[in-house]
Amino acid sequence: MSKQKIVVAYSGGLDTSVMVHWLKNHYDADIITCTGNLGQTKETASLQEKAFAAGASRIYYIDLRKEFLEQYAFPALQAGALYEEAYPMATSIGRPLLAKTMVDIARKEGATMIAHGCTGKGNDQVRFEVSIGALAPDITVLAPLRTWEFKSREEEIEYAAANGIPVSATVKSPYSIDENLWGTSIECGALEDPMVEPPLDAFQSTSSPESAPDESEEVTIGFEKGIPVSIDGREMESIELVEFLNAIGARNAIGRIDLIENRLVGIKSREVYEAPAATILHFAHKELERLTLDKGVAHYKSIVAHEYANLIYNGLWHSPLREALAAFVEKSQERVSGIVKVRLYKGTVRIVARSSAFSLYDPLLATYTAEDQFDHKASEGFIKIYGLPLKTYNRVLQKKNSTHKKNGQSQHQQQYAAVEQ
Ligand code: ARG
Repeated sequence: MSKQKIVVAYSGGLDTSVMVHWLKNHYDADIITCTGNLGQTKETASLQEKAFAAGASRIYYIDLRKEFLEQYAFPALQAGALYEEAYPMATSIGRPLLAKTMVDIARKEGATMIAHGCTGKGNDQVRFEVSIGALAPDITVLAPLRTWEFKSREEEIEYAAANGIPVSATVKSPYSIDENLWGTSIECGALEDPMVEPPLDAFQSTSSPESAPDESEEVTIGFEKGIPVSIDGREMESIELVEFLNAIGARNAIGRIDLIENRLVGIKSREVYEAPAATILHFAHKELERLTLDKGVAHYKSIVAHEYANLIYNGLWHSPLREALAAFVEKSQERVSGIVKVRLYKGTVRIVARSSAFSLYDPLLATYTAEDQFDHKASEGFIKIYGLPLKTYNRVLQKKNSTHKKNGQSQHQQQYAAVEQ
């Protein structure tokens, strides 16, 4: 019988390198590593050599950047999905795509198991396993970090040294970092104390507001149906556009988020994020929606945004409800096309100007000049009917207070007497 095959989510870091070796030993299986390129810059050097040295028999390194942005990040942007009103969820939306990619590889290779390197107390284990379960209910998911014998990073490093597993220098960093084009998530080390301001070295790409340039920078973003398509009049495809905004945003200290968040597994955690492009795009997209969305859709959409963010954060990307909400979002975006000019300055994004062929802002209705076409007189009747329920309510209340007792009878007794007559 041929050996079993396990597809392993491989980052090139310490945990997953040790995991490859450990799984090969424990399951006597062929290990196929899968690394998705979502635009991360760390641990990518000699990734293939590291995977082979750890014991992989085949490796996949797949460029998922375009699919990640266009099929995951932009739909989340269109939805306005920010977890707990703050976090653009770079990590959360990467997981369902990596899960899908691993399932595809497992099918191609005839593998029956998929392993990930998430710990037992985070959200990512849930996202991976729920996504894999949804896409391939027959595949077994392994999560060695939940059960294996190593109690610390030092023990893993020892195991790596004893077994000739190459480990990169970044192992020394006190932080746990997950990076992609949509943002970077940073936790552990000094960040575990909510009283401690993030140390300077926690941030990976952004300038601090204090060290950002004294001159502000303006950037104009063009959207087509809620999708960013151009910068300063120049059409750009997704990767270039997001990289451009990450660069201009990072030097102006945009997109630092310091968040105490509610994890799915029941605890609060403190995480610091850097998401310059996502922050600028969410801001600009919202401004364009203010101009182009009908009031009813705009207000209802904020409920959808909240729910959509929770679904993504809680690992339910590949769910019927997320897909149904996506259909609503897509419909809502039909006229969210136009341009938004923003100013970036020492950590802040401000609106400068916006324009759309579908703008619902009607200058002739909004103006206070002689051009005004708003029917002021019609307001009188409108207010009369609009305020009618409150007038009625309070008229009854006043009457009730003044006629509380009559001939020594309570109001109840008076009502019974009236019915009996
Ligand atoms: N808290 C974030 C989430 O659940 C990020 C998790 C991964 N963070 C990290 N530093 N590795 O989406």
